[in-house]
Amino acid sequence: VEQIIRVGIIGMGGFAGHHHASVKLLEDRGECKLVCTCDPDPGAFEGQIREWDLPGRGVAVFDDYRSMLDACHERLDLVIIPTPVHLHASMHRACVELGLPVYLEKPPTLDCAELDEMLAVEERAGRLTNVGFNFIIDSHRQQLKRRVVDGEFGAVRLVCFSGLWPRPTSYFLRNQWAGRLTLDSQLVLDSCMGNAMAHYVHNALFWAGSGELFSWGEASEVAAELYRAHDIQGMDTVFIKARTQAGPDLQMALSHACDGESRNPEWVVCDDAVIRYTTGEPYEIEWNDGRTETGGPDAHVGLPDNLLAYLAYLRGDADRPMTRLIDSRPFVRLCDLAYVSAGKITTVPPEHTTRSGEYVSINGLPDIVDEFFRAGLFPSEQHVAWARPGGSATISDLPKLRDIVLAMT
Ligand SMILES: NC(=O)c1ccc[n+]([C@@H]2O[C@H](COP(=O)([O-])OP(=O)(O)OC[C@H]3O[C@@H](n4cnc5c(N)ncnc54)[C@H](O)[C@@H]3O)[C@@H](O)[C@H]2O)c1
Repeated sequence: VEQIIRVGIIGMGGFAGHHHASVKLLEDRGECKLVCTCDPDPGAFEGQIREWDLPGRGVAVFDDYRSMLDACHERLDLVIIPTPVHLHASMHRACVELGLPVYLEKPPTLDCAELDEMLAVEERAGRLTNVGFNFIIDSHRQQLKRRVVDGEFGAVRLVCFSGLWPRPTSYFLRNQWAGRLTLDSQLVLDSCMGNAMAHYVHNALFWAGSGELFSWGEASEVAAELYRAHDIQGMDTVFIKARTQAGPDLQMALSHACDGESRNPEWVVCDDAVIRYTTGEPYEIEWNDGRTETGGPDAHVGLPDNLLAYLAYLRGDADRPMTRLIDSRPFVRLCDLAYVSAGKITTVPPEHTTRSGEYVSINGLPDIVDEFFRAGLFPSEQHVAWARPGGSATISDLPKLRDIVLAMT
């Protein structure tokens, strides 16, 4: 390690706690040094302050991120922002204006207009922001993406993601913004697609990006149906199909209103082969001529590995962050086009759901998802009792996002 990177973390609870643990691990290895942190109510974190040994490590604790940056910015090489999504833009701006590089948790924002403002701020950044999508770093994913881009599997026709991740009621009650479309007048757009399974949606767009390794497919035309079974303002279940500008079609189904094991397979249908990729498991390639290939998984895709990759970029040992702010625009726009195209979120009536403790699942959802991928039919086209047709939208409809979402509230 040539240079010990001096770090500030905005936040102490929720996922910020994982950043504290990871930074401590890397600090013990001599990679970095935590200088300061903050939370609006630091008194609520006495246990963590002891556990992370903040006094022993000489870490200054603040109750406001602006006073933290004011006091410490000259002693910082990096600020980590793992805070509520609707606070990211102002925190990112404050850091960039002080010349500080940022590791920003995913999603950067879920409002494409706000992302454009953040990209304008980012123009002034000396070192590019990294957005914390965790799985682009995966070495096997990158090797396979190179082979896809090189044309080894023939033209890429379709990229799919199926994400069924049960979430209990407490998940939606853990903070002010979970499951929300809006807070005050701000678009939040928290959802299974925009937040918990954002990684995999971004992965799917990575498979769909053509021309070079670090490329993400841009949706040009989208159709979607949105549902909720939990008692939330936003959606917990999404069916979406998209065309991309220069590449394959996309098809995804995601839900937090399901039961059983979490499952999150991605697959890439090419002219000559299908690539099946589930993060954390070996991948499989099935060639049309009967050959098969397996490999992976890469164990080094955790948060410390992602932080290390950004430290390498800051030291000049890597030429780019794994996901730059601009690279997350296809993801943010696809999430937004889900709302714009569907036009509404349909509530699944309780008689079509099953409650088990804190979990709510839509009856028969796995079969409906299978049929969506097998026959390409949305739930409404499968004549499911609770389903309602969505609509479609193109990229030129994005400016309608705010009005469409406000009409949903
Ligand atoms: N990479 C991953 O796998 C992963 C996993 C979970 C969450 N996340 C992301 O991490 C971010 C935080 O999510 P969360 O669920 O932990 O949110 P959260 O609401 O629990 O907030 C996290 C922390 O942010 C801090 N915070 C809140 N308001 C603040 C303010 N005004 N000033 C300073 N600090 C403030 C607090 O310390 C809070 O505990 C989101 O972007 C989320 O999508 C990423």
